[in-house]
Amino acid sequence: MSKENSHLRSVIETVGVVVGSFIFAMVVIVAATKSQAPEEASTKVVENTVVEEKVAEADVTPVAEVKVAEASTEKSGDSGTISGEKIAQKNCALCHAAGIMNSPKIGDKDQWTARIAQGKEMLVNNAINGIRTMPAKGGNPSLSDEEVAAAVIWMANESGGNL
Ligand code: HEC
Repeated sequence: MSKENSHLRSVIETVGVVVGSFIFAMVVIVAATKSQAPEEASTKVVENTVVEEKVAEADVTPVAEVKVAEASTEKSGDSGTISGEKIAQKNCALCHAAGIMNSPKIGDKDQWTARIAQGKEMLVNNAINGIRTMPAKGGNPSLSDEEVAAAVIWMANESGGNL
């Protein structure tokens, strides 16, 4: 009886430690996210949700969780101005750098010429709203329309365009 009890106790303690460190990691993420610019509060909610979902799904270590949070908050230039290149590298390159899912590859003029010919407005609209297998805003709803447009312009101009 006492042996069983102590076994049960150690199981409960182990579970407690695991749950405890998970909660601690979440608190760290929330604290790190909250300490940033207050005007982005609504964006943060979305990002927190994304981070939490990723954490729940991926069973990653606390160090990796914090990295996910950092990566998703850093989307504009250091000075606060919109950098199409930075946005594209962070949000679009995961498909468009290598042409994943048949996306037009950044820098591949042949793949972009016909698309660029549709005009800037159409291209930007398609990137904002998504087109066929291209997800709306590249799958990051926290990007503003202006940020998506800047990324489109950068990608197109890297690929033979002059938008
Ligand atoms: C999950 C992969 C993925 C991500 C991430 C992604 N794209 Fe795409 N994108 C695609 C695919 C696939 C296509 C080709 C869709 C088609 O024409 O069938 C595409 C096409 C496009 C086009 C051409 C649309 C047209 O009218 O021909 C633009 C512009 C574009 N993407 C911009 C972006 C921007 C900007 C981002 C980042 C904010 C981004 N994409 C992120 C997969 C992605």
